[in-house]
Amino acid sequence: MLLEVNNVYNIDCAEGIGLLERDCVDACITDPPYELNFMGNTWDNTGISHSIDLWKEVLRVLKPGRHYIGFDINSEYYDIAEKRIKEYTEDNKHNK
Ligand SMILES: C[S@@+](CC[C@H](N)C(=O)[O-])C[C@H]1O[C@@H](n2cnc3c(N)ncnc32)[C@H](O)[C@@H]1O
Repeated sequence: MLLEVNNVYNIDCAEGIGLLERDCVDACITDPPYELNFMGNTWDNTGISHSIDLWKEVLRVLKPGRHYIGFDINSEYYDIAEKRIKEYTEDNKHNK
């Protein structure tokens, strides 16, 4: 099955992108997981954002010269966020 244009699909991105033809996308705009295991969310700890194969797929489907806009965090923020998550987790352990 190939995906139809101008439809919304609620499916795993790794599966969905494989259903797209080469050079068919005008823009990829994404806020992928930051892989922080934020608040214990399982989707934030799968490693998908670090998948070279997935990003190669993004390049495959984007039309030449088209746009990618991705939300991300820098390493300094990552360090701060990791510290805050540890504090949050520790606080919640004590509060139980
Ligand atoms: C950083 S959050 C984005 C939050 C969004 N910007 C919002 O304001 O609600 C990352 C999102 O990616 C989704 N996600 C994680 N793995 C995914 C996957 N393999 N395929 C599709 N979506 C995925 C998660 O469910 C989560 O909603």
